[in-house]
Amino acid sequence: MNQINRGGLEGIVAGQTSLCTVGVDGVGLTYLGYTIEDLSEHACFEETAYLLLYKKLPNAIELESFRERLCKQRDIPVPLKIVLEQLPKQSHPMDVLRTGCSVLGCLEPEAGFAEQYQAAERMLACMPSVLVYWYHFHNSGQRIEVETKSDSIAGHFLELLHGHPPSELNQRAMDVSLILYAEHEFNASTFTARIVASTLSDFHSAITAGIGALRGPLHGGANEAAMELIDRFQDPDAAEASLVEMLARKEKIMGFGHRVYKKCDPRSDIIQVWSKRLCEACGDQRLYPVSERIEQVMRREKRMFPNLDFYSASAYRCLGIPTAMFTPLFVLSRISGWAAHIFEQRADNRLIRPSADYIGPEQRNWKPIDQRG
Ligand code: COA
Repeated sequence: MNQINRGGLEGIVAGQTSLCTVGVDGVGLTYLGYTIEDLSEHACFEETAYLLLYKKLPNAIELESFRERLCKQRDIPVPLKIVLEQLPKQSHPMDVLRTGCSVLGCLEPEAGFAEQYQAAERMLACMPSVLVYWYHFHNSGQRIEVETKSDSIAGHFLELLHGHPPSELNQRAMDVSLILYAEHEFNASTFTARIVASTLSDFHSAITAGIGALRGPLHGGANEAAMELIDRFQDPDAAEASLVEMLARKEKIMGFGHRVYKKCDPRSDIIQVWSKRLCEACGDQRLYPVSERIEQVMRREKRMFPNLDFYSASAYRCLGIPTAMFTPLFVLSRISGWAAHIFEQRADNRLIRPSADYIGPEQRNWKPIDQRG
Protein backbone atom coordinates (compact mmCIF):
# COMPACT_ATOMS: atom_id res chain seq x y z
CA MET A 1 0.00 0.00 0.00
CA ASN A 2 1.51 3.35 -0.90
CA GLN A 3 1.49 6.35 1.40
CA ILE A 4 -1.28 8.20 -0.42
CA ASN A 5 -3.64 5.23 -0.24
CA ARG A 6 -3.24 5.07 3.55
CA GLY A 7 -5.06 8.42 3.54
CA GLY A 8 -4.57 11.49 5.65
CA LEU A 9 -1.50 12.54 3.60
CA GLU A 10 0.64 10.80 6.22
CA GLY A 11 4.34 11.24 5.55
CA ILE A 12 3.69 13.39 2.47
CA VAL A 13 5.81 16.52 2.15
CA ALA A 14 3.23 19.05 0.97
CA GLY A 15 5.40 22.17 0.74
CA GLN A 16 8.25 24.08 2.29
CA THR A 17 8.38 26.24 5.39
CA SER A 18 11.02 28.22 7.21
CA LEU A 19 8.88 28.63 10.30
CA CYS A 20 8.97 25.42 12.23
CA THR A 21 10.36 21.88 12.56
CA VAL A 22 8.26 19.17 14.17
CA GLY A 23 9.52 15.78 15.30
CA VAL A 24 12.88 15.72 13.58
CA ASP A 25 14.21 12.28 14.72
CA GLY A 26 10.81 11.63 16.34
CA VAL A 27 11.23 14.42 18.93
CA GLY A 28 11.81 18.14 19.06
CA LEU A 29 10.04 21.34 18.07
CA THR A 30 11.63 24.58 16.90
CA TYR A 31 10.18 27.94 15.82
CA LEU A 32 12.56 29.62 13.33
CA GLY A 33 15.45 27.67 14.81
CA TYR A 34 14.70 28.30 18.50
CA THR A 35 13.78 25.24 20.56
CA ILE A 36 10.44 25.11 22.33
CA GLU A 37 12.36 24.49 25.57
CA ASP A 38 14.25 27.80 25.20
CA LEU A 39 11.18 29.73 24.14
CA SER A 40 9.01 28.44 26.99
CA GLU A 41 11.80 29.09 29.50
CA HIS A 42 12.96 32.53 28.37
CA ALA A 43 10.43 34.16 26.03
CA CYS A 44 7.03 35.70 26.57
CA PHE A 45 4.18 35.01 24.15
CA GLU A 46 4.48 38.43 22.50
CA GLU A 47 8.16 37.77 21.70
CA THR A 48 7.18 34.41 20.26
CA ALA A 49 4.39 35.88 18.15
CA TYR A 50 6.72 38.62 16.91
CA LEU A 51 9.31 35.97 16.01
CA LEU A 52 6.73 34.11 13.93
CA LEU A 53 5.29 37.19 12.21
CA TYR A 54 8.55 39.04 11.55
CA LYS A 55 10.99 36.09 11.49
CA LYS A 56 13.33 37.60 14.08
CA LEU A 57 13.34 38.01 17.84
CA PRO A 58 12.38 41.58 18.70
CA ASN A 59 14.86 43.86 20.44
CA ALA A 60 13.60 45.74 23.50
CA ILE A 61 12.25 48.70 21.50
CA GLU A 62 10.54 46.48 18.94
CA LEU A 63 8.94 44.38 21.68
CA GLU A 64 7.70 47.43 23.56
CA SER A 65 6.24 48.91 20.40
CA PHE A 66 4.62 45.57 19.42
CA ARG A 67 3.02 45.29 22.87
CA GLU A 68 1.75 48.87 22.61
CA ARG A 69 0.18 48.23 19.21
CA LEU A 70 -1.54 45.11 20.53
CA CYS A 71 -2.81 46.91 23.65
CA LYS A 72 -4.27 49.75 21.57
CA GLN A 73 -6.24 47.40 19.33
CA ARG A 74 -8.14 45.38 21.92
CA ASP A 75 -11.48 47.09 21.50
CA ILE A 76 -14.07 45.59 19.16
CA PRO A 77 -16.51 47.49 16.93
CA VAL A 78 -20.11 47.95 18.07
CA PRO A 79 -21.63 45.94 15.16
CA LEU A 80 -19.46 42.99 16.20
CA LYS A 81 -20.63 43.36 19.80
CA ILE A 82 -24.23 43.32 18.56
CA VAL A 83 -23.61 40.10 16.61
CA LEU A 84 -22.00 38.51 19.69
CA GLU A 85 -25.02 39.47 21.76
CA GLN A 86 -27.34 37.85 19.20
CA LEU A 87 -25.53 34.50 19.23
CA PRO A 88 -27.09 31.84 21.47
CA LYS A 89 -25.71 31.34 24.99
CA GLN A 90 -25.36 27.64 24.12
CA SER A 91 -23.08 28.30 21.15
CA HIS A 92 -19.73 26.60 21.32
CA PRO A 93 -17.11 29.32 21.90
CA MET A 94 -15.20 28.00 18.88
CA ASP A 95 -18.25 28.84 16.76
CA VAL A 96 -18.29 32.26 18.40
CA LEU A 97 -14.65 32.87 17.48
CA ARG A 98 -15.19 31.59 13.94
CA THR A 99 -18.15 33.94 13.56
CA GLY A 100 -16.33 36.83 15.23
CA CYS A 101 -13.40 36.42 12.87
CA SER A 102 -15.68 36.36 9.86
CA VAL A 103 -17.62 39.44 11.02
CA LEU A 104 -14.36 41.29 11.54
CA GLY A 105 -13.53 40.46 7.92
CA CYS A 106 -16.71 42.30 6.88
CA LEU A 107 -16.18 45.29 9.17
CA GLU A 108 -12.45 45.70 8.70
CA PRO A 109 -11.56 43.91 5.44
CA GLU A 110 -7.93 43.55 4.48
CA ALA A 111 -7.58 46.16 1.74
CA GLY A 112 -4.67 44.32 0.11
CA PHE A 113 -1.84 41.98 1.01
CA ALA A 114 0.28 44.99 1.98
CA GLU A 115 -1.99 45.23 5.04
CA GLN A 116 -1.51 41.64 6.16
CA TYR A 117 0.73 42.51 9.13
CA GLN A 118 -1.82 44.99 10.47
CA ALA A 119 -4.59 42.42 9.99
CA ALA A 120 -2.61 39.82 11.95
CA GLU A 121 -1.80 42.19 14.81
CA ARG A 122 -5.39 43.39 14.99
CA MET A 123 -6.65 39.85 15.19
CA LEU A 124 -4.14 38.81 17.87
CA ALA A 125 -5.13 41.87 19.86
CA CYS A 126 -8.90 41.67 19.67
CA MET A 127 -9.86 37.97 19.56
CA PRO A 128 -9.58 37.61 23.38
CA SER A 129 -12.08 40.47 23.60
CA VAL A 130 -14.46 38.73 21.17
CA LEU A 131 -14.43 35.54 23.23
CA VAL A 132 -14.78 37.10 26.66
CA TYR A 133 -17.28 39.79 25.62
CA TRP A 134 -19.61 37.07 24.32
CA TYR A 135 -19.01 34.92 27.43
CA HIS A 136 -19.82 37.63 29.96
CA PHE A 137 -22.82 38.98 28.06
CA HIS A 138 -24.44 35.56 28.12
CA ASN A 139 -23.20 34.24 31.45
CA SER A 140 -23.04 37.20 33.78
CA GLY A 141 -25.37 39.55 31.91
CA GLN A 142 -22.66 42.23 31.59
CA ARG A 143 -21.45 44.27 28.63
CA ILE A 144 -17.84 44.28 29.80
CA GLU A 145 -15.19 46.84 28.97
CA VAL A 146 -12.60 44.98 26.92
CA GLU A 147 -9.67 47.07 28.13
CA THR A 148 -7.32 46.10 30.96
CA LYS A 149 -4.04 47.51 32.25
CA SER A 150 -2.18 44.28 31.47
CA ASP A 151 0.38 44.57 28.69
CA SER A 152 0.34 40.83 27.92
CA ILE A 153 -2.28 38.78 26.13
CA ALA A 154 -2.08 36.14 28.90
CA GLY A 155 -2.70 38.66 31.68
CA HIS A 156 -5.32 40.54 29.67
CA PHE A 157 -7.31 37.40 28.89
CA LEU A 158 -7.30 36.15 32.50
CA GLU A 159 -8.24 39.58 33.84
CA LEU A 160 -11.10 39.96 31.34
CA LEU A 161 -12.39 36.52 32.24
CA HIS A 162 -12.13 36.75 36.03
CA GLY A 163 -12.53 40.48 36.57
CA HIS A 164 -9.24 40.87 38.44
CA PRO A 165 -5.55 40.61 37.51
CA PRO A 166 -4.12 37.08 37.73
CA SER A 167 -1.39 35.96 40.12
CA GLU A 168 2.13 35.96 38.69
CA LEU A 169 2.10 32.15 38.63
CA ASN A 170 -1.19 32.00 36.73
CA GLN A 171 -0.13 34.66 34.24
CA ARG A 172 3.16 32.93 33.45
CA ALA A 173 1.43 29.56 33.14
CA MET A 174 -0.98 31.03 30.61
CA ASP A 175 1.87 32.77 28.80
CA VAL A 176 3.80 29.49 28.49
CA SER A 177 0.70 27.71 27.27
CA LEU A 178 0.25 30.33 24.54
CA ILE A 179 3.89 29.85 23.49
CA LEU A 180 3.41 26.09 23.26
CA TYR A 181 0.28 26.43 21.13
CA ALA A 182 1.63 29.13 18.78
CA GLU A 183 2.94 27.10 15.85
CA HIS A 184 3.18 23.53 14.59
CA GLU A 185 4.16 23.28 10.92
CA PHE A 186 1.65 21.72 8.49
CA ASN A 187 -0.98 20.55 10.98
CA ALA A 188 -4.58 20.32 9.74
CA SER A 189 -5.67 23.88 10.60
CA THR A 190 -2.50 25.53 9.33
CA PHE A 191 -2.65 23.57 6.12
CA THR A 192 -6.29 24.63 5.80
CA ALA A 193 -5.31 28.27 6.24
CA ARG A 194 -2.56 27.87 3.63
CA ILE A 195 -4.96 26.28 1.16
CA VAL A 196 -7.32 29.23 1.51
CA ALA A 197 -4.42 31.68 1.20
CA SER A 198 -3.22 29.84 -1.91
CA THR A 199 -6.42 30.83 -3.75
CA LEU A 200 -5.38 34.48 -3.08
CA SER A 201 -8.30 34.84 -0.72
CA ASP A 202 -8.22 37.32 2.16
CA PHE A 203 -6.62 37.01 5.59
CA HIS A 204 -9.90 36.71 7.53
CA SER A 205 -11.17 33.88 5.31
CA ALA A 206 -7.97 31.92 5.84
CA ILE A 207 -8.09 32.34 9.63
CA THR A 208 -11.82 31.56 9.77
CA ALA A 209 -11.17 28.32 7.89
CA GLY A 210 -8.29 27.50 10.25
CA ILE A 211 -10.60 27.90 13.25
CA GLY A 212 -13.06 25.49 11.65
CA ALA A 213 -10.38 22.85 11.18
CA LEU A 214 -9.02 23.30 14.69
CA ARG A 215 -12.42 22.72 16.31
CA GLY A 216 -12.52 18.94 15.86
CA PRO A 217 -11.47 16.56 18.67
CA LEU A 218 -8.75 14.93 16.55
CA HIS A 219 -7.04 18.34 16.47
CA GLY A 220 -7.51 21.28 18.87
CA GLY A 221 -10.71 19.96 20.40
CA ALA A 222 -8.69 17.23 22.12
CA ASN A 223 -7.93 19.43 25.15
CA GLU A 224 -11.65 19.72 25.94
CA ALA A 225 -12.21 16.01 25.35
CA ALA A 226 -9.26 15.20 27.65
CA MET A 227 -10.83 17.32 30.40
CA GLU A 228 -14.13 15.52 30.02
CA LEU A 229 -12.30 12.20 30.38
CA ILE A 230 -10.34 13.28 33.49
CA ASP A 231 -13.52 14.66 35.06
CA ARG A 232 -15.15 11.24 34.95
CA PHE A 233 -12.83 9.91 37.66
CA GLN A 234 -12.77 10.54 41.38
CA ASP A 235 -9.37 8.94 41.92
CA PRO A 236 -6.47 7.28 40.04
CA ASP A 237 -7.69 3.71 40.65
CA ALA A 238 -11.08 4.46 39.10
CA ALA A 239 -9.27 6.05 36.14
CA GLU A 240 -7.06 3.00 35.65
CA ALA A 241 -9.95 0.52 35.78
CA SER A 242 -11.98 2.51 33.28
CA LEU A 243 -9.06 3.17 30.94
CA VAL A 244 -8.29 -0.53 30.68
CA GLU A 245 -11.91 -1.18 29.70
CA MET A 246 -11.94 1.66 27.19
CA LEU A 247 -8.78 0.36 25.55
CA ALA A 248 -10.25 -3.15 25.41
CA ARG A 249 -13.18 -1.62 23.51
CA LYS A 250 -10.60 0.06 21.21
CA GLU A 251 -11.73 3.53 22.19
CA LYS A 252 -9.44 6.45 21.44
CA ILE A 253 -8.15 8.32 24.45
CA MET A 254 -8.11 12.03 23.70
CA GLY A 255 -4.87 13.86 24.40
CA PHE A 256 -2.68 10.89 23.41
CA GLY A 257 -0.85 10.04 20.23
CA HIS A 258 0.41 12.18 17.41
CA ARG A 259 0.69 11.97 13.64
CA VAL A 260 4.28 13.24 13.51
CA TYR A 261 5.96 12.73 16.90
CA LYS A 262 6.94 9.13 17.35
CA LYS A 263 8.67 9.17 20.75
CA CYS A 264 7.20 12.08 22.66
CA ASP A 265 5.56 15.47 22.28
CA PRO A 266 8.14 17.89 23.71
CA ARG A 267 5.39 20.36 24.59
CA SER A 268 3.76 17.85 26.90
CA ASP A 269 6.76 17.65 29.26
CA ILE A 270 6.67 21.43 29.59
CA ILE A 271 2.96 21.82 30.23
CA GLN A 272 2.99 18.85 32.62
CA VAL A 273 5.36 20.70 34.94
CA TRP A 274 3.03 23.70 34.88
CA SER A 275 -0.01 21.53 35.47
CA LYS A 276 1.64 20.06 38.58
CA ARG A 277 2.60 23.51 39.89
CA LEU A 278 -0.88 24.90 39.30
CA CYS A 279 -2.61 21.90 40.92
CA GLU A 280 -0.39 22.28 43.98
CA ALA A 281 -1.00 26.03 44.11
CA CYS A 282 -4.79 25.66 43.94
CA GLY A 283 -4.78 22.72 46.37
CA ASP A 284 -6.36 20.28 43.94
CA GLN A 285 -5.74 16.65 44.99
CA ARG A 286 -7.54 14.92 42.11
CA LEU A 287 -6.70 16.35 38.70
CA TYR A 288 -2.98 15.76 38.61
CA PRO A 289 -2.91 12.24 40.19
CA VAL A 290 -5.76 11.12 37.89
CA SER A 291 -3.98 12.57 34.84
CA GLU A 292 -0.71 10.97 35.82
CA ARG A 293 -2.34 7.56 36.20
CA ILE A 294 -4.02 7.84 32.81
CA GLU A 295 -0.61 8.62 31.34
CA GLN A 296 0.95 5.59 33.07
CA VAL A 297 -1.79 3.28 31.77
CA MET A 298 -1.42 4.62 28.22
CA ARG A 299 2.34 4.12 28.30
CA ARG A 300 2.01 0.60 29.74
CA GLU A 301 -0.91 -0.66 27.62
CA LYS A 302 -0.41 1.20 24.33
CA ARG A 303 3.12 2.64 24.48
CA MET A 304 1.51 5.97 23.79
CA PHE A 305 2.56 9.35 25.15
CA PRO A 306 0.50 12.41 26.03
CA ASN A 307 0.41 15.26 23.53
CA LEU A 308 0.18 18.95 24.46
CA ASP A 309 -3.57 18.79 24.92
CA PHE A 310 -3.58 16.28 27.77
CA TYR A 311 -1.89 18.18 30.61
CA SER A 312 -3.15 21.50 29.21
CA ALA A 313 -6.58 20.36 30.40
CA SER A 314 -5.72 20.21 34.11
CA ALA A 315 -3.60 23.37 33.84
CA TYR A 316 -6.50 25.32 32.32
CA ARG A 317 -8.94 24.00 34.93
CA CYS A 318 -6.66 25.31 37.69
CA LEU A 319 -6.60 28.68 35.92
CA GLY A 320 -10.39 28.77 36.28
CA ILE A 321 -11.08 28.53 32.56
CA PRO A 322 -14.39 26.96 31.50
CA THR A 323 -13.78 23.74 29.58
CA ALA A 324 -15.48 25.01 26.42
CA MET A 325 -12.88 27.80 26.27
CA PHE A 326 -9.90 25.44 26.11
CA THR A 327 -9.82 25.13 22.31
CA PRO A 328 -10.60 28.85 21.81
CA LEU A 329 -7.46 29.61 23.84
CA PHE A 330 -5.53 27.53 21.34
CA VAL A 331 -6.96 29.86 18.66
CA LEU A 332 -5.85 33.02 20.50
CA SER A 333 -2.29 31.72 20.31
CA ARG A 334 -2.30 29.90 16.96
CA ILE A 335 -3.43 33.04 15.12
CA SER A 336 0.30 33.91 15.22
CA GLY A 337 1.34 30.65 13.53
CA TRP A 338 -1.52 30.72 11.01
CA ALA A 339 -0.69 34.32 10.10
CA ALA A 340 2.99 33.48 9.60
CA HIS A 341 2.02 30.62 7.28
CA ILE A 342 -0.39 32.82 5.32
CA PHE A 343 2.43 35.34 4.80
CA GLU A 344 4.79 32.56 3.75
CA GLN A 345 2.26 31.06 1.34
CA ARG A 346 1.56 34.45 -0.23
CA ALA A 347 5.26 35.25 -0.61
CA ASP A 348 5.78 32.31 -2.96
CA ASN A 349 2.29 31.27 -3.93
CA ARG A 350 1.08 28.43 -6.05
CA LEU A 351 -2.53 27.20 -5.84
CA ILE A 352 -2.71 24.11 -3.59
CA ARG A 353 -4.75 21.65 -5.56
CA PRO A 354 -3.83 17.95 -5.20
CA SER A 355 -5.31 15.03 -7.13
CA ALA A 356 -7.25 11.96 -6.02
CA ASP A 357 -7.20 8.29 -6.97
CA TYR A 358 -10.63 7.68 -8.52
CA ILE A 359 -12.47 4.70 -6.97
CA GLY A 360 -16.00 5.34 -8.33
CA PRO A 361 -17.99 3.57 -11.11
CA GLU A 362 -16.77 3.17 -14.70
CA GLN A 363 -18.06 5.68 -17.23
CA ARG A 364 -21.71 4.78 -18.05
CA ASN A 365 -24.68 5.81 -20.17
CA TRP A 366 -27.09 8.53 -19.08
CA LYS A 367 -30.55 7.22 -18.04
CA PRO A 368 -33.71 9.32 -18.50
CA ILE A 369 -35.62 9.73 -15.23
CA ASP A 370 -38.43 7.26 -16.12
CA GLN A 371 -35.88 4.46 -16.71
CA ARG A 372 -34.15 4.66 -13.31
CA GLY A 373 -34.72 2.06 -10.62
N1 COA B 1 -5.94 6.32 21.98
C1 COA B 1 -5.96 5.02 21.69
N2 COA B 1 -5.48 4.51 20.53
C2 COA B 1 -4.96 5.37 19.67
C3 COA B 1 -4.89 6.76 19.91
C4 COA B 1 -5.41 7.21 21.12
N3 COA B 1 -5.38 8.51 21.42
N4 COA B 1 -4.31 7.37 18.88
C5 COA B 1 -4.01 6.42 17.98
N5 COA B 1 -4.42 5.21 18.48
C6 COA B 1 -4.29 3.94 17.80
C7 COA B 1 -5.41 3.81 16.77
O1 COA B 1 -6.56 3.26 17.31
C8 COA B 1 -4.74 2.96 15.73
O2 COA B 1 -4.75 1.63 16.19
P1 COA B 1 -4.96 0.39 15.15
O3 COA B 1 -3.81 0.50 14.19
O4 COA B 1 -4.98 -0.78 16.03
O5 COA B 1 -6.29 0.69 14.48
C9 COA B 1 -3.30 3.43 15.74
O6 COA B 1 -3.07 3.95 17.05
C10 COA B 1 -3.03 4.52 14.71
O7 COA B 1 -3.98 5.58 14.91
P2 COA B 1 -4.43 6.60 13.82
O8 COA B 1 -5.66 7.29 14.32
O9 COA B 1 -4.50 5.95 12.48
O10 COA B 1 -3.19 7.58 13.83
P3 COA B 1 -3.15 9.00 13.16
O11 COA B 1 -1.75 9.31 12.86
O12 COA B 1 -4.13 9.12 12.06
O13 COA B 1 -3.73 9.89 14.35
C11 COA B 1 -4.13 11.35 16.03
C12 COA B 1 -3.10 10.85 15.04
C13 COA B 1 -3.54 12.49 16.84
C14 COA B 1 -5.36 11.87 15.28
C15 COA B 1 -4.54 10.19 16.96
O14 COA B 1 -3.43 9.75 17.71
C16 COA B 1 -5.70 10.57 17.84
O15 COA B 1 -6.86 10.48 17.43
N6 COA B 1 -5.41 11.01 19.10
C17 COA B 1 -6.45 11.49 19.98
C18 COA B 1 -6.85 12.92 19.61
C19 COA B 1 -5.81 13.90 20.01
O16 COA B 1 -5.28 13.87 21.12
N7 COA B 1 -5.56 14.87 19.11
C20 COA B 1 -4.62 15.93 19.35
C21 COA B 1 -3.40 15.75 18.52
S1 COA B 1 -2.16 16.93 18.96
